[in-house]
Amino acid sequence: MTPLDLNPPPNLRVFITGGATGIGRATAEAYAARNARICILDRVPVPNPPEDWVCLQGSATSADDTEQAFAVMDRRWGGVDVAFANAGMAANKPSLELTETDWQKVLDLNLTGVFLTCQAAGRRMVPRKSGLILATSSIYGLTAGANRAAYTATKAAVANLIRTLAIEWGPSGVRVNAIAPGYVETDMMMALVQRGTLKTDTMKARTPLPRLGKPEDIAAMAAFLASPGAAWINGAVIPVDGGWMANGGPE
Ligand SMILES: NC(=O)c1ccc[n+]([C@@H]2O[C@H](COP(=O)([O-])OP(=O)(O)OC[C@H]3O[C@@H](n4cnc5c(N)ncnc54)[C@H](O)[C@@H]3O)[C@@H](O)[C@H]2O)c1
Repeated sequence: MTPLDLNPPPNLRVFITGGATGIGRATAEAYAARNARICILDRVPVPNPPEDWVCLQGSATSADDTEQAFAVMDRRWGGVDVAFANAGMAANKPSLELTETDWQKVLDLNLTGVFLTCQAAGRRMVPRKSGLILATSSIYGLTAGANRAAYTATKAAVANLIRTLAIEWGPSGVRVNAIAPGYVETDMMMALVQRGTLKTDTMKARTPLPRLGKPEDIAAMAAFLASPGAAWINGAVIPVDGGWMANGGPE
């Protein structure tokens, strides 16, 4: 029997939004360890990027910025193999206090931004009949929680968007999946902890593996999904959360 190959093939051409920090950055590094060519679109500069990464400053909410980033990959590398629509934001507030601007900003990035990356990737991958598209949903795309109306709505929408695209593009050999991280120690989450909106003890207490996630925990799944071992995974929204989703009990 041939041994299972659970690593991404070498030299993939990988596009990641929100790759300057956190989950996106850890995923870029996981693919780079397999000699991938990395293109990042982030609204902030990427700190200390390896020399061969293409780091573009722009917004995942902009169809132009997104298309331009894919066009750079087309010119330099002849296309894209993996596209990770990862950039996202939280707006934790009681729903009665959520402004229309708060709501719209979260929708623009967490939902429209994801669609724009998926569409730009699909336009290239579907005619070529191969490719992998990933998005970052959340445990809050699979269940709900107070004071997160825009976040839970968009993350659930991402889960169903991914399923829809998987159905449309699967027959063309393009797989589309989402990862649903639990609480991961990144700038986004630690900002909420510092503000007192989230409490690390409470998060750990509900998690059967009682720690917060590391960006590398999520990057490992993002890399595995490009491996030959993941060839039949399509339309899936995969929790990587230490068992948080499994725990429905109060204790
Ligand atoms: N950290 C968690 O606990 C957690 C849990 C579930 C899901 N997520 C999701 O993971 C994804 C990554 O978040 P993270 O936790 O790594 O946070 P992070 O703050 O470390 O990274 C987010 C990145 O997105 C970039 N970004 C923000 N707006 C952008 C825009 N308009 N265009 C391009 N890039 C933009 C930021 O500059 C940053 O580099 C998000 O979609 C988030 O919702 C995070």
